[in-house]
Amino acid sequence: TWTTTNVVDEQIALIREQVGSSRAICGLSGGVDSAVAAALVQKAIGSQLTCVYVDHGLMRKGETEQVEKDFVAATGVELKVVDAADRFLAALAGVSDPEQKRKIIGREFIRVFEQAQAEIVAEAPGDQPVEFLVQGTLYPDVVESGGGTGTANIKSHHNVGGLPEDLEFRLVEPLRKLFKDEVRMVGQELGLPEEIVQRQPFPGPGLGIRIVGEVTKERLDLLREADAIAREELTAAGLDRDIWQCPVVLLADVRSVGVQGDGRTYGHPIVLRPVSSEDAMTADWSRLPYEVLAKISTRITNEVADVNRVVLDVTSKPPGTIEWE
Ligand code: XMP
Repeated sequence: TWTTTNVVDEQIALIREQVGSSRAICGLSGGVDSAVAAALVQKAIGSQLTCVYVDHGLMRKGETEQVEKDFVAATGVELKVVDAADRFLAALAGVSDPEQKRKIIGREFIRVFEQAQAEIVAEAPGDQPVEFLVQGTLYPDVVESGGGTGTANIKSHHNVGGLPEDLEFRLVEPLRKLFKDEVRMVGQELGLPEEIVQRQPFPGPGLGIRIVGEVTKERLDLLREADAIAREELTAAGLDRDIWQCPVVLLADVRSVGVQGDGRTYGHPIVLRPVSSEDAMTADWSRLPYEVLAKISTRITNEVADVNRVVLDVTSKPPGTIEWE
């Protein structure tokens, strides 16, 4: 029978058997999945695990600080933070195709993990090798990425279809058979705090797949501002638990005419994509209160330079996906 206690016990035994006396690193993203995977593996192999948080410059406002604070406080895990923003931006320069972006981001993650691996070994030489990479891959990630066949059914999740072919790590993926709600229950069972367990999903490739068009530093800064406003207002309205997540998307290659004060503007639209869902395999658009939408729209167009229009995505999944790329 399926109980979280059984899942935890079974996975701990499997992880111990798989890793043995070797060492592992786990990429933390700030999201539920990687946090639960890390907590599970830490419970299984303790100090043989080092967590690595890659700041790829595609995170939302305040997110990096939050991971450093919340997760370490909750688990006491060994955390290595790598600032890799320049490297990701350089790799993404000139790229607009969604699948190509996903593959580049997936590859760069691995390259940074390899570097972290070398550093960990250098810091503690005579020790066991770091052979394993822990990922918080879920069942839906595997399905939508084509089950690791190399061809995405829908899109290549950064930690499945986005992995480079010359991957030197052996993967530990204790959540590969679970859905999000089950992962949350496992997290609870492991004693992770509410702020982590109930956090809304955020994709590993971050804001990189929420800019339709090329990813640049300026566009990221703009989107970060708009996203922070939307999240602030949704939280203030007490809607965090009612919606599954609300991607905020910048249509970077689209411009429309507007008017502000007594002058013409020619700016970009921001898309709000609030959805409700059980497992992200299907979703419906959330019927948010008009006042909340109005507040978000007014604030974004007033406070974010170069944005002169806010639009609402009213598409379910299918036919739309939750993210735009
Ligand atoms: P889609 O856009 O496929 O998204 O309807 C389904 C859920 O998955 C999240 N998502 C990702 N999560 N790596 C992740 O960790 C990814 O590459 C990725 N792509 C999408 C998305 O935010 C939604 O919750």
